[in-house]
Amino acid sequence: MASVTSLTAHVNQRLASALSAALPEAADSDPLLRRSDRADFQANGILALAKKAKANPRELATQVVSQVVTGDVIKDIEVSGPGFLNITVTDRAITENLAARAADTDGRLGVPQAETPGTTVIDYAQPNVAKEMHVGHLRSAVIGDSVVQLLEFTGETVVRRHHIGDWGTQFGMLIQYLDEHPHELDHKESEVSGEEAMSNLDRLYKAARKLFDSDEEFKTRARRRVVDLQAGDPHTLAMWQKFVDESKIYFFSVFEKLDMEIRDPDIVGESGYNDMLAETCRLLEESGVAVRSEGALCVFFDDIKGPDGNPVPLIVQKSDGGYGYAATDLSAIRDRVFNLKANTLLYVVDARQSLHFRMVFETARRAGWLNDDVKAVQLAFGTVLGKDGKPFKTREGETVRLVDLLDEAIDRASAVVREKAQDLSEEEIAERGAQVGIGAVKYADLSTSANRDYKFDLDQMVSLNGDTSVYLQYAYARIRSILRKAGDVRPAAHPELELHAAERALGLHVDAFAEAVAEAATEYAPHKMAAYLYQLASLYTSFYDKCPVLKAETPEQVENRLFLCEVTARTLHQGMALLGIRTPERL
Ligand code: ARG
Repeated sequence: MASVTSLTAHVNQRLASALSAALPEAADSDPLLRRSDRADFQANGILALAKKAKANPRELATQVVSQVVTGDVIKDIEVSGPGFLNITVTDRAITENLAARAADTDGRLGVPQAETPGTTVIDYAQPNVAKEMHVGHLRSAVIGDSVVQLLEFTGETVVRRHHIGDWGTQFGMLIQYLDEHPHELDHKESEVSGEEAMSNLDRLYKAARKLFDSDEEFKTRARRRVVDLQAGDPHTLAMWQKFVDESKIYFFSVFEKLDMEIRDPDIVGESGYNDMLAETCRLLEESGVAVRSEGALCVFFDDIKGPDGNPVPLIVQKSDGGYGYAATDLSAIRDRVFNLKANTLLYVVDARQSLHFRMVFETARRAGWLNDDVKAVQLAFGTVLGKDGKPFKTREGETVRLVDLLDEAIDRASAVVREKAQDLSEEEIAERGAQVGIGAVKYADLSTSANRDYKFDLDQMVSLNGDTSVYLQYAYARIRSILRKAGDVRPAAHPELELHAAERALGLHVDAFAEAVAEAATEYAPHKMAAYLYQLASLYTSFYDKCPVLKAETPEQVENRLFLCEVTARTLHQGMALLGIRTPERL
């Protein structure tokens, strides 16, 4: 294991042991260390501890200072204000720590992995069969993919589940129509593009709908089809499979455009739980968690009432015997807990489904499927808004097709790349354009906390200034270009060198990468990783403004600054990968 203890953690440990020596009852308490502008760190924890022990905070702080060993890592520690501690670390410690990170042979920059990882089943990227994907599906995919990367990087075992909407009464209508117009989904050539697949489905859906609404006899036949489908009639199932397959061609094309790996075996849609539905209902009814009410099987909650004050139940089985969304989700919980052995169930789903999940989770808790050891969390995301601050729609009031949006982002980004391009070929411009455009869309989504709504503003997203992925990608490309220019001069750490303030600030931030990863992963908060990276790029920029690299004073200083550039670049690259965003070598 090549994990490296960060300077924050190191100083924290020293303070904690000095604190427990000075005040035994404060053993194990947190000195509350923070990065600070005045010194490198400030510890604010003494005040509260002194208050609790009825001691004088300044005196306690002074005692702690006298217990702290200085010289190697800690250069200076002093009491300030009413009992804060200001701590400065040595230049040597910073460079040595970074050197240890760079030397991590696992290529993890010294970020530790969990010793006893748990298993998280994450439900994300769940579009619906025979339907166009929209911006809501984009959010689930982008946020979910980043959380997968973050969790896996910390060592967690992650099982991905794409709970696609592949079941329901609308398939009766579609299948019946296809049965009566058998060649509508036939492909002349074996290769069908995602766009074609979607336009086939769209055309078929519209035609079926029109017939359904105008022709009573077709309607009856379509309804009978639903029954056949639910009864597992082989011919009907085969037709249904055609819709699923055609949709998957389309889904995969969108995910590919999104530069996101979605694996077929991880796609377990609603239909995947059909065999469990009856048993789920039986278990809930027998245990008394669910009760019959007007023929339907329902679960009631004290605190969930409709606008009329009447309780709103979760309907597990309808009075006609049909199962809906809730029965499927409850069955999926049983599968994920008992078969996949999850400790955590995570759902990356629109906040507008929060009531559904609250009821489903509470039901599962009452049934004993969830408990203190197995928890379920909805990572609820907000709505994507247009520039006008209203839910994102086309001018005609229709939902915006995701593919159109991605294509537009790629176009805009290509224009930006082209404008700045000096020695890039057309092919390279196209490739970078896609990486920058998709990165821009992902970053805009990930850099605000998921539960907030965010404005889809392409102009802002591909801007070179400000908190955008392009800014980070340029920072990375600029560092790589310096490293190329250095030619034969290799980056090398020289811990004996004194550091400039801008080098210290950058170095300390690079050293804090592990903490940023841990925080973003445990809180399912990609936006914290984004904030860390933005700060990293900003600190790099000010280092670059103040400290000449290739023209530094001594050969050692050149090497050391190149080293700082390199470890910054690696951190940026790794951090962006955790957001699912590429960092091209040249831009
Ligand atoms: N397919 C659903 C939609 O488009 C999202 C599925 C969410 N996951 C779940 N387990 N219910 O809204």
